[in-house]
Amino acid sequence: ADSELQLVERGIRTFPDFPVPGVLFRDISPLLKDPDSFRASITLLASHLKKTHGGKIDYIAGLDSRGFLFGPSLAQELGLGCVLIRKRGKLPGPTLSASYALEYGKAELEIQRDALEPGQRVVIVDDLLATGGTMQAACELLGQLRAEVLECVSLVELTSLKGREKLGTVPFFSLLQYE
Ligand code: PRP
Ligand code: MG
Repeated sequence: ADSELQLVERGIRTFPDFPVPGVLFRDISPLLKDPDSFRASITLLASHLKKTHGGKIDYIAGLDSRGFLFGPSLAQELGLGCVLIRKRGKLPGPTLSASYALEYGKAELEIQRDALEPGQRVVIVDDLLATGGTMQAACELLGQLRAEVLECVSLVELTSLKGREKLGTVPFFSLLQYE
């Protein structure tokens, strides 16, 4: 039988030159299509977090939009709730924002001011870490709310872009690493 990590690996397809020439796009569509593959990704992330933090996590934070595919399931597996970090202009009510660099120009992430109380302990989840700009902006937002980021996690990490270095002292964990 395949190991859980093999099940996850089987769910990631690679497309060369998407969305622009020279980029190898890691596509998670097969993983979402295959219940065993998807379940394995949630089980592996949850068991890592249980081992590392025990019962100390208060909330999972999911990142718009592909992080939303994993956040609520991961939170459920841990018996927790999920808060949303969204791209600009999507959230009603008072919000806080943090900007981050894109290949061309910049983008902004937002969170509702009442999403978390000061001191609450949060793990951020996304599908993939590339340059780390998105994850770093999410950490900054949670910092504005005085929440504590215990760890950042993703399914895939593109190691050559050194995104984890951008996160400084915040621990980062990924299931699969590609150059
Ligand atoms: C992708 C991916 C990560 C981010 C990683 O999201 O889902 O969130 O890029 O890149 P970085 O580490 O260089 O910041 P994208 O912004 O393409 O949007 P999507 O999730 O809405 O598809
Ligand atoms: Mg994304």
